[in-house]
Amino acid sequence: MPKLILVTRDGTETAVEARAGYSVMEVIRDNGFDELLALCGGCCSCATCHVHVDEAWLERLPPRGADEDDLLDSSDHKQPNSRLSCQLLFAPALDGMRVTIAPED
Ligand code: FES
Repeated sequence: MPKLILVTRDGTETAVEARAGYSVMEVIRDNGFDELLALCGGCCSCATCHVHVDEAWLERLPPRGADEDDLLDSSDHKQPNSRLSCQLLFAPALDGMRVTIAPED
């Protein structure tokens, strides 16, 4: 099964199994990482699923949507590689993508 490389806030890096067709947020939560709050459940209305995507993978992702970009503006930790993980659909082509859970706002 494809893997997502997840870095948690304490710097721990873990390779987790990732199913195609699930969002990156769901992959992270389904693997038991509770520090990604994802309070709105993936409705693109909370920004608590904020991750930083390793630069090498950014060009393989669709661009941010306007709502996603607006929500990320509310974070003190928005960077050029910031994404809301609920808006990223995992696919086999993303096998090995590395994301870091953003600091809590
Ligand atoms: S889970 Fe709320 S915006 Fe992603």
